[in-house]
Amino acid sequence: MKQLNKLAVAVAIAAISGSAFAKNSPEDANNITWKEKYPDQYASWATTAESDALDDILAEDPMVVLMFGGYGFAKDYNKPRGHHFAVIDNIRSLRTGGPMTATEGPMAASCWGCKTPDLKRMYDQVGEGNFSEKKWGAWGHEMANSIGCADCHDAETGKPTPARPFALRAFAASGQKFEEQEPNIQAAMTCGQCHVEYYFNGKDHKNVKFPWDGGMDVDSILAYYDALGFKDWTHKISKAPMLKAQHPEWETWQQSTHYEMDVTCIDCHMPKTENASGKEFTNHNVANAIDAFDQTCSNCHDTKAELVDALASAKQEIHKAQIAAEEVIVKAHFDAGAAWEAGATEAEMKDALKLIRHAQWRWDYAIASHGIYAHNPQLGLEQLAKAKETGAEARAALKKVLAKHGVSKVTYPDYSTKAKAQAIVGLDKTKLDAQKKTFLEERVQKEWPTKVQF
Ligand code: HEC
Ligand code: HEC
Ligand code: HEC
Ligand code: HEC
Repeated sequence: MKQLNKLAVAVAIAAISGSAFAKNSPEDANNITWKEKYPDQYASWATTAESDALDDILAEDPMVVLMFGGYGFAKDYNKPRGHHFAVIDNIRSLRTGGPMTATEGPMAASCWGCKTPDLKRMYDQVGEGNFSEKKWGAWGHEMANSIGCADCHDAETGKPTPARPFALRAFAASGQKFEEQEPNIQAAMTCGQCHVEYYFNGKDHKNVKFPWDGGMDVDSILAYYDALGFKDWTHKISKAPMLKAQHPEWETWQQSTHYEMDVTCIDCHMPKTENASGKEFTNHNVANAIDAFDQTCSNCHDTKAELVDALASAKQEIHKAQIAAEEVIVKAHFDAGAAWEAGATEAEMKDALKLIRHAQWRWDYAIASHGIYAHNPQLGLEQLAKAKETGAEARAALKKVLAKHGVSKVTYPDYSTKAKAQAIVGLDKTKLDAQKKTFLEERVQKEWPTKVQF
């Protein structure tokens, strides 16, 4: 009878949380709790704070501002850095705005989705849907820990286990049920719970959903969003119904040679290392994958120097293809803007706007993970070429619309700097900064556990 009750409780918990895993206790979300028992793992995890460089993508490449015109990523977009900064960077980003109350601000609560073990703690406490339905600013007072132990380990078994029920649902729906995977894939799934493409499902409490029902390649996800009629935003200049791809590392890796050869995120990003007394443990820093050369890469690659060279040239090629695609897509947005101004109708614009949406989706899927040159350069180059081609088709279609309305030449503004590009898409950076400053000083510093300076 006792056994049966326990089983009933377990089933009930699984039904509520959407997963069959033990709940971590509230203390488990706190990284310090794990320090004494696992000093080596804790210390190597803590070194993610050393990867602190803030690289401003918009300053480096102002065309990106125009690509995201009308959307948060035009306000602020940096390269990823150490896991230590996930909560800090989310609070500081201009994208999350300056909500002074629980009910204002541009972002939904699910924006905390890939930042902190406090997410699972809150899901357990209030329910996933109740959490997600609120605004981002409603939960800052609960977000005390950056990406940590309880995001990736079940506190009871210690095993690498993704804490996010929405990820476990998506893995299962894509035919890779967590419980049925080999241990090395289960370990990689701890990364895949966050390093993926996702959206907030308006039909399900704005919970996080991975758009994998039809597959996770670039075309299947695009077909999924098209069939759903989903858009992340309407472009400020072209009025195209746009999609934002979010870091699809898991998806692009699944289509790579390394995946076929059973080399996972963990093999490259979390090599084994030795502590001062010679005991082996897993390095939890996750950056600098190339440092794993001797243990991992050397099984198949000849020398580190060769690999460093290959990475550098792949990076350069991807960058070149990225810029080439941007040059076309940015002009397509302006061409569409000019066509609207000249009096084009929705019916005339429909096909061209769809081409812009598709071109930019391919561009974003290829580059949004920032590591495509290492993970799958072939896929990256192929999609960037298609993005450029599709962008050119959009421009050809728009040329006809423009001609019909008597426009033979479009003039393009100067978008050579981030500030100029932001002004073009109607952003008032001074105002956004001031709003953020007040929010950080008056709300975050006073009421939230993670303190962030302006
Ligand atoms: C991003 C996911 C992730 C985070 C965060 C994380 N771990 Fe791990 N951890 C793993 C994975 C994956 C493995 C298994 C590595 C393997 O199988 O090669 C692992 C292995 C371990 C092991 C087994 C022994 C070893 O060193 O291989 C311990 C103990 C451990 N982690 C403790 C911790 C502690 C303590 C924290 C927090 C300070 C932490 N982990 C944070 C993913 C994570
Ligand atoms: C809870 C969500 C989450 C999990 C789990 C997670 N990541 Fe991350 N990762 C992030 C976020 C968010 C950032 C960006 C943080 C920032 O810039 O503030 C990031 C950044 C990174 C970076 C850039 C680090 C740097 O120093 O530049 C790498 C590499 C990375 N993650 C690899 C991994 C690997 C490998 C795993 C699995 C072992 C993993 N991540 C698990 C969310 C996650
Ligand atoms: C074959 C080895 C390998 C595999 C497998 C691999 N990576 Fe990487 N990853 C790299 C290398 C190399 C880089 C380039 C940066 C570097 O040298 O550390 C990189 C870059 C990244 C970056 C960008 C870091 C930045 O600061 O811009 C992220 C994030 C990342 N990887 C996450 C993952 C995740 C998640 C997986 C699994 C789904 C994965 N990687 C699989 C080798 C690998
Ligand atoms: C199990 C074997 C294996 C291991 C281990 C391995 N690789 Fe590879 N790697 C390959 C193969 C096979 C290719 C494809 C070669 C080709 O097509 O020319 C490749 C290609 C690459 C490329 C070229 C880009 C691409 O994807 O085609 C890079 C960069 C790379 N590997 C980095 C790494 C790094 C970094 C590590 C270690 C962290 C590593 N590899 C570990 C087998 C491996």
